[in-house]
Amino acid sequence: MTTYLVTGGAGFIGSNIVDELLRRGARVRVLDNFSTGRAENLRDAMNRIEMIEGDVRDEAAVDRAVGGVDFVLHQAALASVPRSIADPVSNNQVNVQGTLNVLVAAQKHRVKRVVYASSSSVYGDSEELPKVETMTPNPKSPYAVAKLAAEHYCRVFADLHGMTTVSLRYFNVFGPRQDPTSQYSAVIPIFVRCLLQGQAPTIFGDGEQSRDLTFIENVVRANLLACDADVTGGRVYNIACGERYTINQVFQALEKRICSGLAPRYEAPRAGDVKHSMADIARIRRDLGFEPTIGFEAGIDATVRWYQEAGLKTLG
Ligand code: NAD
Ligand code: UD1
Repeated sequence: MTTYLVTGGAGFIGSNIVDELLRRGARVRVLDNFSTGRAENLRDAMNRIEMIEGDVRDEAAVDRAVGGVDFVLHQAALASVPRSIADPVSNNQVNVQGTLNVLVAAQKHRVKRVVYASSSSVYGDSEELPKVETMTPNPKSPYAVAKLAAEHYCRVFADLHGMTTVSLRYFNVFGPRQDPTSQYSAVIPIFVRCLLQGQAPTIFGDGEQSRDLTFIENVVRANLLACDADVTGGRVYNIACGERYTINQVFQALEKRICSGLAPRYEAPRAGDVKHSMADIARIRRDLGFEPTIGFEAGIDATVRWYQEAGLKTLG
């Protein structure tokens, strides 16, 4: 049976990947230190996975977790632009050194493939849209620097050691289990929590900044395609829908469903914020046969429903 290690498997994206792997009958191991993830996210999976509570900064723990697996899906990271500005050192230790530890162990144990959760933030603020993988990256935050550095490590390890690594540049991902409670949470879960709890959400800037908002199911599928695709070397792919929505439109889409009657408050733009983000997804379509099957509106429907039903208790 094929064995997968999901680092960060207790997090939003990782736990959704774990569930899909189990649905497909795979053997799954998770490495997570529960810093931003929750055991609750693995509630249904816990007795069917091998759980290693450990830190990607700890070489021995990573070595133990990687030994004997076929594929590594490396999701563990501190995933926030503002958090990386507040604490750039931890950002670097977890997101760069942690990834290096994963690659060293993957090389040693000859795993078939490392799939790495990179980020659209590596592109920075270039005027040009859509963002294509051939563009020169221009990170604007410590988070983006770290995501790009780790991506380079993936490619260099592939070049030097004949490994296959696939870096998936996720554009803003949303959906069930995304944490709405942290000051570093992403915009959709923050807005949903505010609207459900009767608080006016804050929009940073004029709200006309835009994002290629990608429903989780698309991202899970891309990770599994990345394991199976007939590719070698160090690959980089955008994973998104190829459409963009402004933050004002995000607010309206949520309010239309939640009907709180609240209006947003506007504040100064956030430091390190990218103005517009939208992906060209031709490369992942061509090489991995990927199609985004769930678009923004259907994704928002499913997400609001999840927070209203199963997720209400997670709102904090
Ligand atoms: P998340 O915070 O829900 O998940 C991250 C997981 O990693 C958590 O379970 C956390 O406990 C774990 N983790 C953090 N530090 C760790 C450490 N030192 N050792 C072991 N485990 C650790 O975030 P997410 O949104 O699920 O993000 C998953 C990955 O996707 C990250 O690599 C992130 O950078 C990347 N990403 C996310 C988005 C997005 O929109 N959510 C976009 C681009 C890239
Ligand atoms: C960035 C990256 C993404 C990365 C993620 C990790 C880009 C284009 N995207 O997302 O790849 O993985 O960080 O966190 O760089 N906002 C509000 N009010 C709020 C919260 C956010 O107006 O309460 C705004 C932000 O200012 C931003 C937008 O909403 O303009 C999206 O913010 P967020 O969800 O935090 O994600 P990004 O920073 O875009």
